[in-house]
Formats: sequence, C-alpha cells, structure tokens
Amino acid sequence: MHTAPLPVNPHGSPLKGIRGRILTFKADPFINDDEEACYDCHDDGLIVIQDGYIVAAGDYNATAPEYPHLRDIDTYPDAVIMPGFVDCHTHYVQSPMIGSYGKTLLDWLDRYAYPTEARLSDKSLADEVAREFFRQTLAQGTTTANVFATTFATSVNAFFEESERYDTRMICGKVLQDRNLPEALKDPSADESIAVAEDLLRKWHRRGRQLYAVAPRFAPTSTPRQLELAGELYQRYIDSGVYMHTHLDETQSEIDWVAQLFPGAANYTDVYRRHGLVDRLSVMAHCCIVGEDEWQTLHDCGCGVAHCPSSNLFLGDGEFDYRAAMKRSRPVRAGIGTDTGGGTSFSMIRQLGDAYKVAMLRQGGLSALKSFYMATRGGAGALHLENTIGSIAPGFEADIAVVDLHPSEFVEWRMKYAATIFEKLFVIATLGPDNLIRATYVAGRKVYDRTRGQKWMYADDMER
Ligand code: GUN
Ligand code: ZN
Repeated sequence: MHTAPLPVNPHGSPLKGIRGRILTFKADPFINDDEEACYDCHDDGLIVIQDGYIVAAGDYNATAPEYPHLRDIDTYPDAVIMPGFVDCHTHYVQSPMIGSYGKTLLDWLDRYAYPTEARLSDKSLADEVAREFFRQTLAQGTTTANVFATTFATSVNAFFEESERYDTRMICGKVLQDRNLPEALKDPSADESIAVAEDLLRKWHRRGRQLYAVAPRFAPTSTPRQLELAGELYQRYIDSGVYMHTHLDETQSEIDWVAQLFPGAANYTDVYRRHGLVDRLSVMAHCCIVGEDEWQTLHDCGCGVAHCPSSNLFLGDGEFDYRAAMKRSRPVRAGIGTDTGGGTSFSMIRQLGDAYKVAMLRQGGLSALKSFYMATRGGAGALHLENTIGSIAPGFEADIAVVDLHPSEFVEWRMKYAATIFEKLFVIATLGPDNLIRATYVAGRKVYDRTRGQKWMYADDMER
C-alpha cells in the first residue's frame, strides 16, 4: 500500500481537502497479532483529493503545509472519517419489501421476495427502486456494493444508470434463474438467459466505474445447463475482472435441497465448482453452515465470502462462524453484506452491531477493530479491490464516509464514557440511530450531505 503522496497534476481539478479524525486500515487484524499495526488513526488529519483520487492523507499539521494552494477544506468535528463502506452482498430489487414477514427463508422468498422482483420488469418501477436504493445506501456511507438485480435486463440497466449518475463503483448483474421459482421470474431458457447476461456484461462492464457479475441466484433455482453456461461465461470474462456472485450454505433446508438436486456433488460448494463457478472473483453470500473441505476450497480458489448478520438473524438462517472463516492456516477473504431485503437495514454500521451478536451466539465476540476492518478494507479484499477502494491512502479512489460520533443527544452523552476510538465505534455500532452518516464522498464529490438543503446530488451536478 502506498504511503508517499502522489504528485499534484497542475492540469487536474482543484485540490479538495477533508479534515477531522481519520481512521483507515492497512493490514488484516484477523491474521496479525499486532493489532496496533493494522490501522492508522489521525486525531486531526487531512485528506487531499484531486481528480477523484486521494493524493495525500496524514496529520493535518504535517500535510497541510505541503499544499499551499489547497483552499477548499470540509472540516468535521466529532466525527470519524473512514473509507466508504463496502457492502459485499445485497439485493436492490428487494428494497420495496424490506421488513416483511416469513416463516423460513424459502417461505419468505415465495411470499415477498419473488413477487416483488417479478414487478421489476417494469422499467419505471425499476428506476424508482434504484433511485431509492442509492439514496438509502449513500446515506449510510456505503460507496461500493455487490448487488443482485433480478431476471430482467431492465433491472440491471436501471441500477447501472443510477450508479453512473453518482459515479459510484458498483457491481451488479442479471440474476440467472430458470427453475423452481414463479413463472413470472423464470428465464425462458438457459441459453437465452446467458445471451442476455453477455449483452449486459458487454454494455456495462468497466463502463466508468461499473463492474459486472455473472449471478446465478443459488443452485436450486438454476438447471445444471444454466450453471454450466454461467460458468463458461464467467471463465470467458474473468481475466477482464468480471465477477461471479451467488448464495452458498445459508440454511440447512436449502443445503438439503441442493443435495437432492445434485446428488453427485460432494457438497454445496462442489456444485458450483463443477460448473466452473468457483474462482478468484467468486463472491459467496452467507456461508453460515460450511464444511471444512468447503472452507479449504474457498481459500484455495481466492473466493470472497459475504457475512450478512442482520439477514441471518432476521431469517433465522444459521450463524456465520468467523473464526472458522478466518482460520490462520487457510483464511478466506470475508466482508460484510446488508443482504437487504433479508437484512433489515441499509446501514453497514448496523450490520456490525449484529455481527457482534452473531459472534456472541457462537461464544466469542467481534471487536470494533475487526468488524470495521471487515466493513472497509476487508470487504474490498473480498472483492479483490483492496488496491483500489476501502482505504484512505495515496492512490486510492476517494470514496469516503464521515461517521457522526454525536448523532443523538444520548449517544453524545454516552461518548463521554468511551475512551478509545474503537470503544466509540463499538458504541456507534451497538446504539447508533439511523442518521449516523454526516456526509458521503464518491470519487471526491460530496454526493450526500445530511445538513445540505439538497441532501443527495449527482456527480454531474457538482464541480470537482
Ligand atoms: N437465497 C436465494 N435467494 C435469496 C434471497 O433473495 N435472499 C436470501 N437471503 N437468500 C436467498
Ligand atoms: Zn442474498
């Protein structure tokens, strides 16, 4: 990771500064014993930005004199300035049904998720849902997400069009699903579904900051033929950075169903592996009930996994075992996902409060140092983007969240009794209200500001 400042481009955009307490991670606290060496914290720090990239970051008194032309500085007292959060798994199309009742995962899918997604063939509804999803996501300081659309190309186009307006770095793809779900959502055929996915991939992958994912929903809703073609598509484009995104090992009933549908496979991971879907840019959501041989495969292949704690609690799935996932002899790349609408909040910080509770159910807590790592640099690592986003350091894309440490009168009072930065962040993750984010910057532009008349602004409507 760079620490030396980048040279200023005399022909580039005017410099932009952000000043306040800065926290960023530089190493993985799950595998390093020296936790202090895993992060940098500047109580009075300065970030210098040009053309969407971080040029310098450090103590204000040491950094500011190097930039005598820097005039435009946003200053945030009583806040922590962090890398924008990285949401490793979510379904934007489920935003209209977040917080809906179900008896089990499969019952909840049938009652609410599938009927809602079926309506997203309508472009104007897809546009509305994408607009609301981005507003909620940016208002929670999340600047990158790995996102499921649904069957229809309209749902992918609506998502990426809105992402382009904010210039966010987002990952999305058409959901591939050709069996075991309502007719209205089913792909007409495996071959046709892959052709539509490839057209979307060619249209959107690497257009600006957008990235494409080949996205079979989960093994039960794809025929073997669709999984095979999905694997071929993924393998054709993986070298250009195309992802594979799916669900894995979320509940026992789902695992039993997969064993019935694919009797020849050694386990659930093996179903995907046999179809060419397990590789370095594969991201597996949930991974609650995972065998040791499966963890080993996920490690060996460099896959990312998305722990979705609020969804796991809400749907009563299983409990992610982060100690098994991070085993030092074969750690996997793990991040956090909101999994809305199975998850009950767009806030990554809220997920961290729930991740602690899930960890406690497994008889072991999760410190704020580790959970905030997972929500930023760790999540970027799960997406193999750890050299691009998820850190505040020279050369990184300037995606930044400003977390308010005094979001309510009570939390302000409570903070008097929290000493360290990580005690304060633990309080925020456990007690914080919904309005925790003061401002969100995307590629250096303040796209969200809680106190501005117009809270959300598109990139084109702002100067750099
Ligand atoms: N497994 C397959 N589809 C879904 C979904 O939409 N949400 C969750 N939580 N799990 C799934
Ligand atoms: Zn999901």
